[in-house]
Amino acid sequence: MSKLNKALKAFRLILKKPHLLNLINESEEAQQHYVSQKYHLPHGLKTVDFADFISTEEEIAPYSFLEGSSLPTDFALLKSLCRSTQAKDYLEIGTWRGESVANVAPLVLQCYSLNLPDDTMRALGMDEAYIGMHRFFSKDIPNVTHIQADSQSFNFSTLQKKFDVIFIDGDHHTSSIINDTKNAFRLLKDENSVIVWHDYGLGTETTRFNVLAGILDGCPASAIPHLYRVSHTLCAIYTQKEINSRSIKPNSTPSYFFNIKLNVNRIP
Ligand SMILES: C[S@@+](CC[C@H](N)C(=O)[O-])C[C@H]1O[C@@H](n2cnc3c(N)ncnc32)[C@H](O)[C@@H]1O
Repeated sequence: MSKLNKALKAFRLILKKPHLLNLINESEEAQQHYVSQKYHLPHGLKTVDFADFISTEEEIAPYSFLEGSSLPTDFALLKSLCRSTQAKDYLEIGTWRGESVANVAPLVLQCYSLNLPDDTMRALGMDEAYIGMHRFFSKDIPNVTHIQADSQSFNFSTLQKKFDVIFIDGDHHTSSIINDTKNAFRLLKDENSVIVWHDYGLGTETTRFNVLAGILDGCPASAIPHLYRVSHTLCAIYTQKEINSRSIKPNSTPSYFFNIKLNVNRIP
């Protein structure tokens, strides 16, 4: 098919189904172009070294190793940030099985974990087994408050709290990340407080430009120089800490490796 015929076919399809335009606008290529033009970051954020955040050893528990789990290094990062900021208050958007909040809860005074209400997920036609897994690991932890709400409409000021560590891991559409990011900046406690975004990368060496576009559009301009990806994780971070950063490309030579010891614990 010639280019002209392809263009005409696409044009007819878009006239019939205008929502198809979203697929183009939200495509990784379009978002990379946007980030490149507006923020001059064609290769994404600079990288800070995971090892700069972590003491030599970190235990991750619970870890389900199930579909969609964050990486152990993501949880290690959250734990180490809770330690280094001496966090009293932790907020996350996106509970799911409750793994992330269950990992940080022993280190923090009070945790809030917000997720779409079960009934909303039901109304959206989500699988009952998936809905049933929400809060699995966190439901009985005394210092975890679960909030069932849509982060896009929830009034966070009703919490009457500011937070030391905020983890954004809810709806990963660009527009939702923008909104979650704007809220997170309003909720930071002080200059030591940090924000972590999950799924900044599809893997640990690639960038998800639709997520990066959301982060950048949601951030105050003054915060942009303090945004980094964290190596060996799927996370981006906002921190005002002075920290060395560098550009990394896929297939970089490893500068360290990990020892992983697995304990299997059966759930009765
Ligand atoms: C990737 S999971 C969170 C995983 C969890 N942070 C962890 O690492 O263990 C994302 C969750 O965000 C929830 N979610 C999606 N859109 C949301 C919204 N608009 N408001 C609140 N929660 C949302 C989904 O129901 C899903 O459980």
